[in-house]
Amino acid sequence: MAFNTQHQPKQAAALLEGDGKVSVYEATGGAVTAQFAANNLSLLDPIPPDSIVHDNCCGAGTVSRLILTSNPPHSNIKIHATDIDQKFLDVLQADVLKNSWPIEVSNQRSEALPFRADSFTHSITNIGIFFTSSAGLDGTKEIRRTLQTGGTAVVNCWETITWLLPLKLVHEALRPGKPYPAPPLLWNDGKQIKKVMLEAGFEMEEMRVEKSEAWARTSDIRDWAEKTWAFLGGLGGWTETDEERWDEAVDLLVEHLLAQPGTKTVDGEVWMRASQWIVIATK
Ligand SMILES: C[S@@+](CC[C@H](N)C(=O)[O-])C[C@H]1O[C@@H](n2cnc3c(N)ncnc32)[C@H](O)[C@@H]1O
Repeated sequence: MAFNTQHQPKQAAALLEGDGKVSVYEATGGAVTAQFAANNLSLLDPIPPDSIVHDNCCGAGTVSRLILTSNPPHSNIKIHATDIDQKFLDVLQADVLKNSWPIEVSNQRSEALPFRADSFTHSITNIGIFFTSSAGLDGTKEIRRTLQTGGTAVVNCWETITWLLPLKLVHEALRPGKPYPAPPLLWNDGKQIKKVMLEAGFEMEEMRVEKSEAWARTSDIRDWAEKTWAFLGGLGGWTETDEERWDEAVDLLVEHLLAQPGTKTVDGEVWMRASQWIVIATK
């Protein structure tokens, strides 16, 4: 995700520079999207040899890595991994070269994919479809177009995120009068993800809809909160005072995170709940 870096506090810049952006994401929200991806892959039939998979909105290859871990190298699965965030793609590409993985990495908008119709046996968009234009419809149409007849599409979206309200409360405390950049369209009731799938041409009878939960877990809640503030605190743009009020923001975020009903302590670790809607569809 590319955010405006105007007024970005030095603390955020230090955490996010270079590959830091990817490691910060993977230590926070990315650990949760990886649990969603593992859950969703477990709902599919085993991916057969010679499959051609699209890891759409791939980030640093969360889905691709899981597929390769659970399938033997001789299975001859080919993966195309695409995203618009070059920093994430660079991290994936480096690992592809290092490990000779069968993954073609490229920078592509999900709304205008360069692949021919009927290219993929599987198209998996893990926590990405709602970022695409026309309230997700443009990305979903491309998923259907590029999927082979009989192929499987997996899309998902957040249902609940324990850390969303705390981020909003910190924003409101630190930046009074500046509206919180709420998503233009809320997907948390599961209606929009089904609607775009239907509008893109998938049939209701071809769709399986499920929900599942995952947990962000940390033994250092302040560190987790600081990384999350660095990654998501600038969602609606940083302000001039965010740098000097950095510690105040992080401490307040910790306070709100610990107060949420979705937060619990397990063996000294803080666990924060998130859940997803999943749609698995056959073309
Ligand atoms: C929440 S991350 C999920 C990444 C990865 N799939 C995972 O499970 O961790 C969403 C990803 O969608 C990408 N993205 C957002 N809008 C996009 C678009 N229009 N086209 C392609 N990728 C996009 C972002 O760059 C980001 O890497």
